[in-house]
Amino acid sequence: MKLVALLALFALASGKHEEYIGWKSYFVQLIDDIQSKSFFAIADKYEVDILSHPIIGREGLLLVKPEYHDGFIQDIKAEGIAYRLHSDDVKSQLEYDDIMIEQQNTMSRIRNGGRQLPYDNYQEIEAINDYMDSIGRQYPDIATVVNAAQSFEGRPIKYVKISNSNFEDESKPVIFIDGGIHAREWISPPTVTWAIHKLVEDLTESDLLDNFDWILLPVVNPDGYKFTFTNTRFWRKTRSTDQNVLSGICPGVDGNRNYDFFWNTVGTSNSACSDIYGGSRAFSEVETRVVRDILHEHLHRIALYITMHSFGSMILYPWGHDGSLSHNALGLHTVGIAMANAIDQHSLTQFPRYVVGNSALVLNYPTSGGAEDYAHSIGVPLAYTFELPGLSNTMQGFNLNPRYIQQVCNETWEGIVVGVRRAGDLFKNKRL
Ligand SMILES: *[C@@H]1O[C@H](CO)[C@@H](O)[C@H](O)[C@H]1NC(C)=O
Ligand SMILES: [Zn+2]
Repeated sequence: MKLVALLALFALASGKHEEYIGWKSYFVQLIDDIQSKSFFAIADKYEVDILSHPIIGREGLLLVKPEYHDGFIQDIKAEGIAYRLHSDDVKSQLEYDDIMIEQQNTMSRIRNGGRQLPYDNYQEIEAINDYMDSIGRQYPDIATVVNAAQSFEGRPIKYVKISNSNFEDESKPVIFIDGGIHAREWISPPTVTWAIHKLVEDLTESDLLDNFDWILLPVVNPDGYKFTFTNTRFWRKTRSTDQNVLSGICPGVDGNRNYDFFWNTVGTSNSACSDIYGGSRAFSEVETRVVRDILHEHLHRIALYITMHSFGSMILYPWGHDGSLSHNALGLHTVGIAMANAIDQHSLTQFPRYVVGNSALVLNYPTSGGAEDYAHSIGVPLAYTFELPGLSNTMQGFNLNPRYIQQVCNETWEGIVVGVRRAGDLFKNKRL
């Protein structure tokens, strides 16, 4: 019976991921700034898709299209950049990922009496929304589900407000965490839904609700997220088609280049077909406007904003567009370090240790129009991008194996808790 199910799954899987036939994936390892510069030029030239950003001393993971293998390898070799093959058949790796996810689904359904929980596997947007709705129904005293807007394709963009004082105690700092702006970064939404779970269904540390109000938005970009399940696994952008004459053929905007902070200046693209297309104007996307509006509505109280991405085990802070430091750099760095230490303490030895720093300096790559920079620029004192872990040195598929999702949720939560308390110490009772 099990074997039959598995075979059926193989048959099902083989029709998927056709667009990745012939693609290969590589690890690269950079040793200095010079290599870093030439690497990003090569990546650009061959339209390399960077899944995990290589930083000096830590491998990154890339996808290379069939027509560019030879040129890419030639140029990488010429620059003396160390590389190794991750997979010579991206399509079959994706099929492997699908099987892992299906196995996890079976196991978690058995554990949870048929129920799909959004933090125990990579779940479809509908399961995530259902979970939020059920939380709102079961815990109306502390959890309010807000249907903020409809995405470009008409899906609800939902978030949960969590408070034991109905958001009315102005002395409480607000904590805002979002995920899923980059569609393919599947480990991001579970860390946000896990935070909902830990605050509403399994509150073990009461100060987190006594002293703070929370806004948790697991999937900023539901259209792109959906598309990664139904069509293109490595889709990153939104799905809008109204940005540009080319948007019909090449839909979507990189949400994390669409914020109004040095928009369209660096580390972004004007081409609708690029994965880092910034859009026709800042906040062209309804999805980023939802985040913007939350930030502004609660600005006087938001002490900490975190946007969840993957992967790379990094905590990054402003300014991302030029590597300069904000007036609050010391606070950003110390709270960032405290969060990273807490995560590392609860992590597994197979996971890389967290790296903390200014986004442009850590990545050796400036970017403009990002959420964390925007939040900080308008006055959110602590604003971070988390690059959640992938097991990059040994990983087989492209997703973090779903059996590690719970681990990542747990350890990330430990980091959030430490960051939140630090934010409270720094900003409680201070109107921001
Ligand atoms: C995660 O934390 C929960 C308690 O919050 C615990 O029951 C569970 O065993 C932990 N799982 C892992 C993988 O650490
Ligand atoms: Zn991302």
